[in-house]
Amino acid sequence: MSERADPATAELRGRLLAGLTGRVLEIGAGNGLNFPHYPAGVREVVAVEPDHLLRASAEQAAARAPVPVEVVPGHAGALPDGPGSYDAVVLSLVLCSVPDQAATLAEVRRVLVPGGELRFFEHVRSPRRVRAVLQDLITPLWRRLGGGCHPNRDTAAAIRAAGLLVEEQDRFAHRPMPGSPTLTHILGRARNP
Ligand SMILES: C[S@@+](CC[C@H](N)C(=O)[O-])C[C@H]1O[C@@H](n2cnc3c(N)ncnc32)[C@H](O)[C@@H]1O
Repeated sequence: MSERADPATAELRGRLLAGLTGRVLEIGAGNGLNFPHYPAGVREVVAVEPDHLLRASAEQAAARAPVPVEVVPGHAGALPDGPGSYDAVVLSLVLCSVPDQAATLAEVRRVLVPGGELRFFEHVRSPRRVRAVLQDLITPLWRRLGGGCHPNRDTAAAIRAAGLLVEEQDRFAHRPMPGSPTLTHILGRARNP
């Protein structure tokens, strides 16, 4: 998950988090690659990560972060804290891997304050029919090799189906890591009504 040689993804992470304020929940924080990009208006980040090795790296990244970050164990299906605990939730390159997108997004809505924001950056199903069919075919193998990652999910539709109001969304082709295939990505924000 190193991005030392990938300034393009780092720039996208900056765009993902720009302007956030208050108390933020990041789900599936990995090794903490988003942490350097949190703006000063963020009072606290709670970063949930189920994998203990990634969590250990995230704790090191948290120590260097420009805002307070607490790294905690857990998973998207049962988030910490009660209803309306967060001003914003961040999902980056995670909705491809969670076992149940609808359940995750229902949890996101539960923990967001009314009017709170979901910030998302995800690779998604190709809008090109032939590519999408190829993604369907490769998904079983990809999942097994890629830690449960699905290349073929229509994540924008799942966000809307969860009742979140998409206010801004860019869709673009992006290579998430040097040497990886180019995938369609979405980056945007959605409001908890
Ligand atoms: C491709 S990595 C992305 C990490 C990080 N968000 C980033 O942008 O670099 C996918 C992450 O999702 C996490 N993940 C997978 N299933 C999860 C779940 N059910 N709940 C929370 N996190 C999960 C993995 O442990 C991993 O950290």
